[in-house]
Amino acid sequence: MLSDRVQSLTPSLTLGISSKAKQMKREGIAVINLSIGEPDFWTPAAIKAAGIDAIEQNLTKYDAAVGTVDLRRAICDKLASENQLDYTPEQIVVSSGAKYALTNTLLTITNPGDEVIIPAPYWLSYPEMVKLTGGVARFVETDFANDFKMTADQLKAAINDKTKAVIINNPSNPTGAVYQKDELMALAEVCLANDIYIIADEIYERICYLDHFTSVAQLSTAIKEKTILINGMSKSLSMTGWRLGYAAAQPAIAKSMGAIQGHLVSHPCTIAQHAAIVGLQSCQADIAEMKRVYRRRRDTAIELINAIDGLSIVQPDGAFYIFINVSHYRTKIAAESLSLKICDDMLAEKQVALVPGIAFGNDDFIRLSYAAKLEDIKAGLARLKDYLAQY
Ligand SMILES: Cc1ncc(COP(=O)(O)O)c(C=O)c1O
Repeated sequence: MLSDRVQSLTPSLTLGISSKAKQMKREGIAVINLSIGEPDFWTPAAIKAAGIDAIEQNLTKYDAAVGTVDLRRAICDKLASENQLDYTPEQIVVSSGAKYALTNTLLTITNPGDEVIIPAPYWLSYPEMVKLTGGVARFVETDFANDFKMTADQLKAAINDKTKAVIINNPSNPTGAVYQKDELMALAEVCLANDIYIIADEIYERICYLDHFTSVAQLSTAIKEKTILINGMSKSLSMTGWRLGYAAAQPAIAKSMGAIQGHLVSHPCTIAQHAAIVGLQSCQADIAEMKRVYRRRRDTAIELINAIDGLSIVQPDGAFYIFINVSHYRTKIAAESLSLKICDDMLAEKQVALVPGIAFGNDDFIRLSYAAKLEDIKAGLARLKDYLAQY
């Protein structure tokens, strides 16, 4: 009864874990949730006020498929001032979350059977998006020793005549690793030489702890032409439920993405778009404060993880995740999937929700999200230490 498309989908392990955790909470069990990919801050007050204002001004009607011109202008201003990138509003497509910006990008640039390179470990929606849009995911296994960052040689080796694009997620979910300018340049040059698109998912860009963040599109005009830049409001402005993301691309791509979006969803919510303008223009202090808090939690979490026997981590220079290497326990804990076993046990026995690395394509790791209160991070890691001590 159901399409092949639907039957090929892999159920989301992260959603599975979080619904189990929620069910336990409903049953009155005090679960510490370190699994969530969502800021634990409220949306800044100025954005909420702008949303209410939009309703009162009756900005509640259909608008342009690519997003309101005012928001697209504000996005261009943000890209110019923060990323030194010159885009016009015709090159911006606002959508319902970065998720749909990514899906729409794939619909726009790939034909059935085209390959899309995904470095592993990967954010778990990428392979499903590629499958759903008719493409074929080609995974590149990256090395822990290189913080799971793909090298130019690894990328080159994965390219064939069916390759259409590569997805570069920077900063990375699940590892938190950030590509440096020279690393990005080496990858981008391979893409240019082989005429493939770069889908640059930079949704965690504003949660980067390095002095400087390089956007792929900044590297050169030629690279910018081949890049579809993906970003959004969910993570940096704590606007997850407002569902706003965007793509910046060459005009022909942006126009086609607008045409697809027009038919499939019309456009994202106009009220949310109105509010996001305020978010882009006047919430720098909120963004800086959230980053300061995340950094403090990250530093504490790293210290606590390093004090647990047998664990090691990927250096997290961005986002709000720590990818923890648990492979030391592979010979001690009997299980078909080590990461799943640890996460299942931690939830059932210690009431701590973490995400198994197998969901991101690497069973030797578990992912901790520090988008949670410091006390919860400390208590959660104390329980992890306790759990592992029995082995
Ligand atoms: C790497 C990455 N890209 C995109 C998204 C989607 O974000 P949005 O809420 O804008 O759809 C997420 C959300 O978890 C993410 O982790």
